[in-house]
Amino acid sequence: MAMENYKQFLFFLATSLSVGFVAVVFVLRWVLYFRGGLAWDGDQAEFNWHPVLTVTGFIFIQGIAIVVYRLPWTWKCSKLMMKFIHAGLNTLAFIIAIISLVAVFDFHNTKNIPNMYSLHSWVGLAAVILYALQLLLGLCIYLVPITPVSIRAAFMPIHVFSGLFIFASVIAAALMGITEKLIFSLNNPKYSSSPPEAIFVNVLGLLLLLYGALILWIATRSPWKRPSEQSAPARLTNGGGCKSDREGLTMSDSVAEVRNEPDPSSEARRRNPNQDEAGQRSTM
Ligand code: HEM
Ligand code: HEM
Repeated sequence: MAMENYKQFLFFLATSLSVGFVAVVFVLRWVLYFRGGLAWDGDQAEFNWHPVLTVTGFIFIQGIAIVVYRLPWTWKCSKLMMKFIHAGLNTLAFIIAIISLVAVFDFHNTKNIPNMYSLHSWVGLAAVILYALQLLLGLCIYLVPITPVSIRAAFMPIHVFSGLFIFASVIAAALMGITEKLIFSLNNPKYSSSPPEAIFVNVLGLLLLLYGALILWIATRSPWKRPSEQSAPARLTNGGGCKSDREGLTMSDSVAEVRNEPDPSSEARRRNPNQDEAGQRSTM
C-alpha cells in the first residue's frame, strides 16, 4: 500500500478515536455522577439517555463510519464488504439516534414540556431527517446492483458533501443541546459561577468539536482516499472478504508496487491533487 504520510494518517486516526472515546466516557460520567443516572421512567434519568445515545451513536459511531473506507489495511478487502461495513455502521448510528429522540420526546410528554421549540431541536431533527434520506439514497444507489454506474458517479460528490455536512450539523446540534441543558439545570450554583459540572461539560463540548474536526480532516485528505479498484485488480477477484497479507495486499504494498510499477491512482493524485472527483472513486 502506497499511502502517502502513513504515519500522519495513523496519528490522526488514533487521536480522533481517543478523543471520541474520551467524549463518550465524559458524557457517561456527566449523567451518572452529576445528573442522577440512567433509567426509562419518564423522568430526568430517561432524558439522560438522550445525550448518552447521541454522543455515542450519532457522533462517535457516525464518525467511524465516515472514515472506514480510508483505513489502509481494509484496501485489500472487497469494496462490497466495505460498503456493508459503512452502511451497517451508519444504520446502527441512525437506530441509536432514533432511540435518543424517543427518550427526549417521551420525557417531554410525561412532564408536559412543549416539543420542538428550540433551535437545538430544529437543527437536531433536521439532521436526523437528512441522515435518514442519506441512508436510504446510499442504500438504493450504491448497494442495489442494478443502479447504473453513471448515476452512482453523478451522485457521489453529493453523497460525500451531504454526509460531511450532516455530520458537522450533528456536532453543532450537540453543542447547542449541551449549552441548553447546562443553562436549564444549573441553578444553585448557577452556570455563570462556573461550578465543576459546568467546567466538565464545557470540556465535553470541546472534545466533540475536536472529534468533528479530526474526522473531517481525515475524510477530506485526497491522498488518504481508498485507491480506485482499477489500481488494485487483485481485489476484484475476491468476492466478499479480504485477501490475506500473503496472497493480496500487505499494509505497505499496493498491487502496483508488487508488480514494481507506480500505483496509477497515487501517481495521478501526485500530478493533480485536486483530481478527487467521483470518477476517481473505486467501484462506487
Ligand atoms: C431536545 C435532537 C444532542 C440536550 C431535543 C429535541 C431534538 C433533539 C429533536 C426535541 C425533543 C422535543 O422537543 O421533545 C438532538 C440531536 C442531537 C442532540 C439530533 C445530536 C447530537 C443533544 C445533546 C444534549 C441535548 C448532546 C445535551 C444534553 C437536549 C435538551 C433538549 C433536547 C436539553 C430539551 C430542550 C429542547 O427541546 O431543546 N434534542 N439532540 N441534545 N436536547 Fe437534543
Ligand atoms: C463515501 C457518508 C451511507 C456508500 C462516503 C463518504 C462520506 C459518506 C462522508 C466519503 C468517505 C471518503 O471519502 O472516504 C455517508 C453517511 C451515510 C452514508 C453519513 C448515512 C447516513 C451510505 C450507504 C452506502 C454508502 C448506505 C451504500 C453502500 C458509499 C460509497 C462511498 C461513500 C460507495 C465511496 C467510498 C470511496 O470510494 O471512497 N459516505 N454515507 N454510503 N459512501 Fe456513504
